[in-house]
Amino acid sequence: MKFKKKILCIGAGYVGGPSMAIIAYKCPDCRITVVDTNPNRIDAWNSEDLPVYEPGLDKIVKKTRGKNLFFAKDIENQIKENDIIFVSVNTPTKTYGAGADMAADLQYWEKTARQIMKHSRSSKIVIEKSTLPVKTALAMEKILASAKGKIKFDVLSNPEFMAEGTAVSDLENPDRVLIGSHETKSGLKARAELIGIYARWVPLEKIITSNIWSSELSKLVANAFLAQRVSSINSISALCEKTDADISEVAKAVGMDSRIGDKFLKAGIGFGGSCFKKDILNLVYLCSYYGLQEVAAYWESVVKINEYQQERFMANILNSMFSTLAGKKICILGFSFKADTGDTRESPAIYISQKLLAEHAEVIISDPKALKNAAIDLAGIKGTVKYIEDPYRAAAGCHALVILTDWDLYQKLDFQKIYSSMVKPAFLFDGRNIIDHKKCFAIGFNVYPIGKPALSHFKN
Ligand code: UDX
Ligand code: ADP
Repeated sequence: MKFKKKILCIGAGYVGGPSMAIIAYKCPDCRITVVDTNPNRIDAWNSEDLPVYEPGLDKIVKKTRGKNLFFAKDIENQIKENDIIFVSVNTPTKTYGAGADMAADLQYWEKTARQIMKHSRSSKIVIEKSTLPVKTALAMEKILASAKGKIKFDVLSNPEFMAEGTAVSDLENPDRVLIGSHETKSGLKARAELIGIYARWVPLEKIITSNIWSSELSKLVANAFLAQRVSSINSISALCEKTDADISEVAKAVGMDSRIGDKFLKAGIGFGGSCFKKDILNLVYLCSYYGLQEVAAYWESVVKINEYQQERFMANILNSMFSTLAGKKICILGFSFKADTGDTRESPAIYISQKLLAEHAEVIISDPKALKNAAIDLAGIKGTVKYIEDPYRAAAGCHALVILTDWDLYQKLDFQKIYSSMVKPAFLFDGRNIIDHKKCFAIGFNVYPIGKPALSHFKN
């Protein structure tokens, strides 16, 4: 079959894989190829066991793979073959040199730009899809502009706003698609080309355009605003624990104000995931770079409150369990950074597990999708860790349950059965406020929610 457009995506991760699967699904007359430097990732995308768990994704991949969606290893050849290139490689925070722990490490990204330039034999549209610091597209353009001959590259910014766990529905039904371009003739032509792809399933009024810098900055700011809401409600949860207020009641009353809205007001053990912290630190770095220290400090406090929330939660476990965890068995329910994903990047569960182990507790980790990643995250850390998928087996013989991920299945557990199998007094720390606290208290647990009074059987 002759395809109308030949599209390549460099980077087969959490963003590249799902977003390209949807484009392939919605545009059967386009051929989409996804490449990655990691051959195991490509093998996994070509297998029954996809490297990314997303509800609904396997069905879409099955429908498209081998027809108009391909996962390949020959990056250089694919650069030659395709006309539109999405770049979706990872951009971790720099760990060395200037901007260490703040700025994005652009080495992978620059390598990709150079690779595109070296292997291209015709003009191409290059689309920045990874979240990158503002003005990265400019750097990419400068590298690509040094290409010899008649080959021209148009660089667009098209940040991806989907969230993990809901990637398929977010991609099928986005709030908006943002495309940043230059206002030049060729920039506008490239932009129209990309609009044409999204318009196959996204209503035109939801496809918005801007200049490249606004597009890049909007992604950082959207994530910073979302994270800020989580930190705001978490900061108030600390206050609720000191008073008789209940964070769920406060969040409901506040969120019903239509100017505020009810989303992202769920108090918990703090946000995780590959984006929030990284993007805020990026924003902070950008502000400091331009001498805007007050603005930088404002956004940095969002990350500080997130760390504080996790420290507070850990201190609460230690204090409630008579200030010693040595030799006690603690069952962690949920290791992924949120429900419906196996991703554990920046998951608060990593910090909590490390602290529990540092207190010489024995840690038993249960999660329906994230145990492989949990074992990688905790590899080499001193102490006893067990990984048991079945929550009932994981909890048996433990002194405490610690809920760290909002998986639906934890709401449906038989807590009576679990309680019977645990060491008494049994403790339950609900870091997500997802279970029926009163019911668990009535069963016999000492229950410690977030932002609500503890329900304890001990006399003060
Ligand atoms: C985020 C953005 O939502 C998405 O638009 C962007 O493209 C990538 O970053 P993601 O990190 O996948 O997506 O998940 P998200 O749903 O935003 O949750 C992030 C973290 O915040 C999770 O740890 C989640 O548990 C936590 N969270 C979220 C809360 O603690 N409370 C809330 O009310 C909402
Ligand atoms: P994200 O959540 O942003 O998608 P991931 O880490 O899941 O991040 O995915 C990024 C992918 O990009 C990884 O699979 C990594 O191997 C790949 N990658 C990094 N650098 C390159 C490169 N120069 N060429 C091709 N793939 C790359």
